[in-house]
Amino acid sequence: MFRDDLLAGKRVLITGGGTGLGKSMGRRFLELGAELAICGRRAEVLEATAQEHRAATGGAVSTHVCDVRDVDAVEALVEELFAARPLAALVNNAAGNFVCKSEELSPRALDAVLGIVLKGSVSCTLACGRRWLAAGAPGTVLSIATTYAWTGSAYVLPSAMAKAGVVAMTQSLAVEWGGRGIRLNAIAPGPFPTQGAWERLVPKPELAAHFETHNPLCRPGRHQELADLATYLLADGSAYVNGAVVTIDGGAWLQGAGTFSFLKDMLSEEDWQALKPKKAR
Ligand code: HXC
Ligand code: NAP
Repeated sequence: MFRDDLLAGKRVLITGGGTGLGKSMGRRFLELGAELAICGRRAEVLEATAQEHRAATGGAVSTHVCDVRDVDAVEALVEELFAARPLAALVNNAAGNFVCKSEELSPRALDAVLGIVLKGSVSCTLACGRRWLAAGAPGTVLSIATTYAWTGSAYVLPSAMAKAGVVAMTQSLAVEWGGRGIRLNAIAPGPFPTQGAWERLVPKPELAAHFETHNPLCRPGRHQELADLATYLLADGSAYVNGAVVTIDGGAWLQGAGTFSFLKDMLSEEDWQALKPKKAR
């Protein structure tokens, strides 16, 4: 769906780029000519992914061990990356999450998720943004949010709070920095199967099918679909898209919100016909 050199010359940092959706986005960016830097906490995971990427695409990938909760580590990483050549884009993708009854959350559990998702995203964004502003250089920030950033969700309270904060950051800085060449957007995905998410969010294997198909399209998202959306939002052709949160969930959250959506599963064709006035049947 894109020109092969769409992202040529762009150097992109993806936090949490060693696994799941971060890995899939990275592969797509490389296929389209980008240069990649990926970070996470596990060196061996990052290196294995980088090797796979290089073998598949021949593209340049650097790996960086960095816990995004540690502001000093984020500063050091971004400084190192910009010293070589300014980044063109940052993808705030690293996240932590699990399902838990909120009244049973420990302070450390709350800190862990808020630290990775909210503090990590803002630290990375400010570290890159300050450098882009100082250099008068253009930059793009893309954050991976969720649809429950605006609806909230039971059982994932820290993640819902943190993702709502990431959306607020995106919208605030899109206005503050938009006139100075820095664009910020976010993607709000519905369920896209990944090992990291499914291990922590699908409490029983038999619930996976419900999680994956409870949307108007009756299927989960495909990684390439999200990677292509991310590509568009990083590409120069989306220059006028700023402060947007683009949903990619097959219509799942609207289905959940619509008062009468449940009728789909409750009424047979016979029931629908019986509802019509007699002369219209
Ligand atoms: C309750 C839990 C818990 C759970 C951990 N904790 N898991 N509490 N229920 N299931 C508590 C621990 O007991 C501890 O508190 C505190 O959280 C920190 O846990 P640690 O294991 O010491 O922390 P750490 O190693 O830093 O791990 C962070 C993590 C972990 C967030 C807890 O899950 C992680 O590393 N996640 C990274 C990857 C990830 O989550 N991927 C999924 C993203 S999917 P105490 O008090 O006991 O010390 C996603 C999709 C959203 O976001 C939308 C889907 C549609
Ligand atoms: P994932 O594979 O578990 O990805 C999370 C990544 O974040 C991992 O690579 C992890 O690597 C990294 N990470 C976690 N804590 C970190 C920290 N403190 N510092 C640096 N890196 C850290 O899960 P995913 O499903 O691909 O999720 C990717 C993004 O999509 C997340 O923002 C998630 O909220 C969002 N999302 C996913 C879905 C879905 O259905 N999959 C739906 C909506 C939104 P290390 O453990 O090695 O650090």
